[in-house]
Amino acid sequence: MKDILQELQERRNTARLGGGQARIDAQHAKGKLTARERIELLLDEDSFEEYDMFVTHRCTDFGMEASKPRGDGVVTGWGTINGRMVYVFSQDFTVLGGSVSETHAAKICKIMDMAVQNGAPVIGINDSGGARIQEGVSSLAAYGEVFKRNILASGVVPQISLIMGPCAGGAVYSPAMTDFIFMVKDSSYMFVTGPDVVKTVTNEVVSAEELGGASTHTKKSSVADGAFENDVEALSEVRRLVDFLPLNNREKPPVRPFFDDPARVEMSLDTLVPDNPNMPYDMKELILKVADEGDFYEIQEDFAKNIITGFIRLEGQSVGVVANQPMVLAGCLDIDSSRKAARFVRFCDAFEIPILTFVDVPGFLPGTTQEYNGVIKHGAKLLFAYGEATVPKVTVITRKAYGGAYVVMASKHLQGDINYAWPTSEIAVMGAKGATEILYRSELSDPEKIAGRVKDYEDRFANPFVAAERGFIDEVIQPHSTRRRVARAFAALRGKKLTNPWKKHDNIPL
Ligand code: HXC
Repeated sequence: MKDILQELQERRNTARLGGGQARIDAQHAKGKLTARERIELLLDEDSFEEYDMFVTHRCTDFGMEASKPRGDGVVTGWGTINGRMVYVFSQDFTVLGGSVSETHAAKICKIMDMAVQNGAPVIGINDSGGARIQEGVSSLAAYGEVFKRNILASGVVPQISLIMGPCAGGAVYSPAMTDFIFMVKDSSYMFVTGPDVVKTVTNEVVSAEELGGASTHTKKSSVADGAFENDVEALSEVRRLVDFLPLNNREKPPVRPFFDDPARVEMSLDTLVPDNPNMPYDMKELILKVADEGDFYEIQEDFAKNIITGFIRLEGQSVGVVANQPMVLAGCLDIDSSRKAARFVRFCDAFEIPILTFVDVPGFLPGTTQEYNGVIKHGAKLLFAYGEATVPKVTVITRKAYGGAYVVMASKHLQGDINYAWPTSEIAVMGAKGATEILYRSELSDPEKIAGRVKDYEDRFANPFVAAERGFIDEVIQPHSTRRRVARAFAALRGKKLTNPWKKHDNIPL
């Protein structure tokens, strides 16, 4: 018996050593942690239950039978994050470059199947040279199996991808189908075709970092939802995110203990909106002042900054926030901001996370760039996402809510539940200047007359009361009481039940 126990221990020790000490040292020299170190930091202490530690590949081509590292380049299993269950896979770059073989993928598929069956999120840590070249088409088929599970799990359990090394070729499409992608600055990259192929085909000379590094994907392409300085920060921030999310689509998001009075008054909000309607102000200030303990987890912070998306808690319960940012492009909606917010709204709706919307939007951004690139279809994504969302929706208009953008931003007309406006809000077809220039074109040569017309229009329409008279706004509220009003609104909506008509699935304008 003793011998067998010893053998088990020895087998475990070899498996835990992955590709060996030299490769572990090389991994550390690149500023990267190993697959197991990452799991340790991600999960609660001693909570990891590993599966398939002894799995080896079955390839006999290219002399592969001579080396069968235990675990086959990926560590899989489950554990807890602040006591809540998650499944995890972590690719081990020290074993054959973390490349994906038939058996490597089968390990990932096994925990994905368990996650869906048992209703817990999947967190994938990606650090891989891609398809295991020695296995050829078997490796491609194996990727296909993972992709299929990403698709079927979408909207059932949250899926989070951490990119902590290379992720290239078709391999990028597994993370791309997950809910959130986070990268590590300077040590991770994602691209469909690498710099060499790019040079051959298009003659462009570009580095791996420029082509698919964290900065590119968080600022330009919006493929990634966040970038972190190093592995440790990335893993601890994913722990923080998981705390906001439900385990699956049948459960409510977690309710955490809170130590912040839901009726807290913030007098400074009464002067947040400047007197001059063309002056910007920082919408993040409102979000932070409304949130429990000022805790805000921002998603896609560096992309389409004219809209803000992320999670807060109110009375301890997770709430998704979408807010126009007047500091950037005057808070206009455009292609990028519509896509960013639409995806976020759909995530919240899929996982029963209520949505709070703060509105200050002068309209859609005009211009040929926008029109040629399809602002009509992309803008419709946000409209569609809000309109189909059945979760509790509370909206506060702080200032401008003009035209189509007013309707898009979680208005009453798109199944908004409770719609508030600050006294500073202006709910109208467009701003006073634009409106008078169209209505009184013949008087444009007379600045005095036009100024009078602008004043008339402002007096009549630049307020929340016309909309409130029609019931499109449920109440005009004091800015300082916003936290109390929205917290009470969501409390009143906890029993909300709304079902859209049956359909196989919708046809959102992709
Ligand atoms: C088998 C691989 C491998 C792979 C790396 N290795 N990638 N083994 N299949 N895809 C092995 C290397 O041979 C090496 O083994 C070890 O991993 C470490 O690799 P290095 O090259 O020494 O590391 P580094 O210099 O850091 O470069 C990392 C790399 C490079 C940029 C990822 O290894 C690379 O370009 N690999 C090939 C990438 C690729 O073309 N993959 C296929 C993409 S197509 P030793 O024993 O020497 O330490 C694809 C399709 C998916 O993935 C399709 C899905 C539908």
